[in-house]
Amino acid sequence: MICFSCWLEIVPIAAIASALLTYVYCTRYYGHWTALGVPHTKPAPLLGHFAGPTMGRESGTITVDKLYRRFTGHRYFGVYQLRHPMLVLRDPVLVHAVLATEFSSFHDRMMSRTSFEHDGLFNSLVNLRGDKWKAVRAKLSPTFTVAKLKAMFASLHVCTGQLADKLLLLTSGGQGIVNVTDISSKFTIDTIGRCAFGINCNTLFDSNTEFQRAGQAVFTPTRKSSVLNFMRLVDLGWLVDLFRLRSMPDLVYEFYSNLFQDTLELRKNEKEDRNDFVSILIKLRNDEKKNNSRVELFTDDVLASNAFIFFAAGFETTASAMSYCLYELALNQDIQVELRKQIQHTLNENEGILTYDVIKDMKYLDMVLNETLRMHPPGPGLLRVCTKKFKIPDSDITLDTGMKVLIPTYSLHHDPAYYPNPELFDPLRFTEDNKASRPNGTFLPFGDGPRICIGLRFALMEAKTGLAEIISKFEIFPCKYTKIPIKLNPRSILLTPNEPISLLFKQIV
Ligand code: HEM
Ligand SMILES: *[C@@H]1O[C@H](CO)[C@@H](O)[C@H](O)[C@H]1NC(C)=O
Ligand SMILES: *[C@@H]1O[C@H](CO)[C@@H](O)[C@H](O)[C@H]1NC(C)=O
Ligand SMILES: *[C@@H]1O[C@H](CO)[C@@H](O)[C@H](O)[C@H]1NC(C)=O
Ligand SMILES: *[C@@H]1O[C@H](CO)[C@@H](O)[C@H](O)[C@H]1NC(C)=O
Repeated sequence: MICFSCWLEIVPIAAIASALLTYVYCTRYYGHWTALGVPHTKPAPLLGHFAGPTMGRESGTITVDKLYRRFTGHRYFGVYQLRHPMLVLRDPVLVHAVLATEFSSFHDRMMSRTSFEHDGLFNSLVNLRGDKWKAVRAKLSPTFTVAKLKAMFASLHVCTGQLADKLLLLTSGGQGIVNVTDISSKFTIDTIGRCAFGINCNTLFDSNTEFQRAGQAVFTPTRKSSVLNFMRLVDLGWLVDLFRLRSMPDLVYEFYSNLFQDTLELRKNEKEDRNDFVSILIKLRNDEKKNNSRVELFTDDVLASNAFIFFAAGFETTASAMSYCLYELALNQDIQVELRKQIQHTLNENEGILTYDVIKDMKYLDMVLNETLRMHPPGPGLLRVCTKKFKIPDSDITLDTGMKVLIPTYSLHHDPAYYPNPELFDPLRFTEDNKASRPNGTFLPFGDGPRICIGLRFALMEAKTGLAEIISKFEIFPCKYTKIPIKLNPRSILLTPNEPISLLFKQIV
């Protein structure tokens, strides 16, 4: 028997009850910071302090920066990321402790693999934890030794040559308006492809942009990835595993698995050892088989995941650094002129040929690039999770295992206490004297400590070589399509401009 009017009564009651339950569920831990006596602002119901980013209204970098400024004078403050408390550090001494000196209490970026069980590209250096991370990191560190970087220079040359050719084509034919975001990412894809994987992606000249699409899809949030992230933050990650869901678009998994398999297949028929990243991976697997190791570390999964991360973590970040640098040089003509003078001077002394050592000698270029990375760090924050109880020195606060800690790189880089007039682009902040006057923990574009970016040296060499090539051959100006100032993309986890950067290029004759 169906009683229609009974239903009418039950529906609103059930709705109210479930709303109440949801509220209690989501706000359950909201007393945490009050109990510990950590300064914080009142969280919004349900969404905590990240309502803006969760709704795609504001970049998380800006949300954190507003709170960072509000707590001037404090060493740290608390936030809630949906349900969960997260500690944000302000004090550079504490930052350096978490990243470097107290590494044993903060060696991971996340707690568990829950919600990534069916993600075939999860087991990369970025996500691996504890001893497994340590073992894999030790084996992959030799990828970018100075000797290897020098050996890569010939490949890098091919790519910078193509970059210059492409820009010549754009300036001689058309008006010289260049989509710098696009060109930089094509250049960095071609470079990492050639130098680490020994493949010719040819994105600069080929209209097939599969590499670019697959690469950009990694960092571009989709509706699905947003929902999955939300589920993780409200502790429903097990549901993600139950339904065998994966965060990134299918195209990413297919593309990178095929890429790695194809590269392995090609290598089988080669006699000569290329001594690059892929050959390191192959050697690791073969060694392990030979050694008959009891615990298998370099499974297909780990190999493919790391091949993926060397591509994905490498190209978009470096491209972002290069395009922001060109943007700042276009807006600061005096710095551009000075930089060109010094680059040309060094080139003249070395018969016009760029080598690893010539690039290393370009001091002003180093300062200009670092000032770019200060103002526009491609990775705007660093994440660590507490892996061993940690008492914050000179306080009564002890962090429990599992507590998330955020280091707000962008905010530290824009703090007038360390960088007076922080919105001014001034490479002289990186003279030896000025550098020495700043404490550790205030310049972190690549992170710090044992988990510092593994591609740091490669990225700097690549960006500098590309920039030196461009600046020595072209003058760069803002144009009517250049958005000043740059607005951040509210949906990206990298520091990505909301619209691509366009600049005017003129060939120097
Ligand atoms: C300008 C370019 C780049 C920037 C700004 C950058 C930035 C970063 C940052 C901030 C981290 C986190 C460090 C930490 O938590 O302390 C990181 C980690 C990492 N980066 Fe980079 N990166 C760049 C280029 C590259 C390149 C070219 C590669 C590879 C070829 C790469 C591979 C990685 C990997 C594998 C990790 C994880 C390291 C680990 O946890 O052991 N990155 N990077
Ligand atoms: C610039 O390049 C990006 C990336 O390829 C593309 O999405 C965008 O539409 C381009 N913008 C312009 C103005 O050409
Ligand atoms: C295999 O054994 C050799 C010699 O003992 C060692 O140097 C190498 O690191 C081992 N390789 C792996 C992948 O465990
Ligand atoms: C620029 O930054 C890199 C990476 O953090 C560092 O190795 C280098 O010494 C810095 N150079 C200057 C002049 O600050
Ligand atoms: C900064 O950190 C490095 C590495 O941990 C250390 O050698 C150096 O002494 C520190 N400098 C200062 C001023 O604390």
